[in-house]
Amino acid sequence: MALENIRLEVMKTIESKVDGFIDQYLIPVDDIWQPTDFLPNLQGEEGLENVKQLREEAKELGYDFWVVLVADMVTEEALPTYESWLMDVEGVDQQRRADGEQNPWSKWVRHWTGEENRHGDTLNKYLYLSGRVNMREIEKTTQHLINDGFDIGTGRDPYKNFVYTSFQELATNISHKRVGQLAKKKGNKMLGKMCNIIAGDEMRHYMAYREFVKTIFEHDPSEMMLAFHDMMKKKIVMPAQFLRESGEGIAQAFENFSNAAQRLGVYTTYDYIEILKKLNAYWEIDKMRALTDEAEKARDYLMKLPDRMTRIADRIAIPQDQYTFKWVENNGII
Ligand SMILES: [Fe+2]
Ligand SMILES: [Fe+2]
Repeated sequence: MALENIRLEVMKTIESKVDGFIDQYLIPVDDIWQPTDFLPNLQGEEGLENVKQLREEAKELGYDFWVVLVADMVTEEALPTYESWLMDVEGVDQQRRADGEQNPWSKWVRHWTGEENRHGDTLNKYLYLSGRVNMREIEKTTQHLINDGFDIGTGRDPYKNFVYTSFQELATNISHKRVGQLAKKKGNKMLGKMCNIIAGDEMRHYMAYREFVKTIFEHDPSEMMLAFHDMMKKKIVMPAQFLRESGEGIAQAFENFSNAAQRLGVYTTYDYIEILKKLNAYWEIDKMRALTDEAEKARDYLMKLPDRMTRIADRIAIPQDQYTFKWVENNGII
């Protein structure tokens, strides 16, 4: 049987578990938080007071902080790219079945998207109300990013895609959590809560995607190992890899943002390595037996990779020069 067909078979076999994953890792609409729960409610008089307080609190945040928050928000706002990508993965079928029910995988993708959509929404409204950033420039960046799409090197392969999403969900959990901590430290209570609650969603999503991979490992260990190896070998690229400013090509913006995130300690190379270690441990790749020779080698590579990456990371210095983004210029922040 061709490889893709085996993958399709495995995806079909796991289908029966997906409703359970949705129940376990996602929260029904009526029970989950909404952006408004954490933003000033403008329907009442006190809403305007809360906006004033939000703007007061926002005065203490530094330049790198705003750059990182904007890029985090833009990354979340490019959700159409991620949903359409995942909808195209082998085994995910957008068509409803003859009985009118959704294909379980596409139902997962839709419900996951519904949860994710609240993240960009929350941060966008916060940034708008803060008055500290150039919203029009940011909006252009978001539109560019959606236009440019991404290429995360997974193709339509569900195994590789679920490695990617496992990795990314934990990466976003870490970065939102750290941004929230920094905000809180500077007295930004509202923003601290927003980032924290978003980080909580990302954690649930991470736990779901790593479970998908673990389940696939039970059915097709060698191929799953090779897919994991392939993704780590070419490195996990960030969803905002094509980030750009208005009037600029895709070149520097992502790197400058990433440098700001490293300087702040919001997301660093060491976090990347930590995530890899966590995935290795959760999937218990060291205990996996009955692998093909090739998969055995892939496993050895993955086991050694965290140490190898740490040695390299120790030698690389983080650039200290601050780049001026159009998103955050002329607001009096140095
Ligand atoms: Fe998110
Ligand atoms: Fe997420």
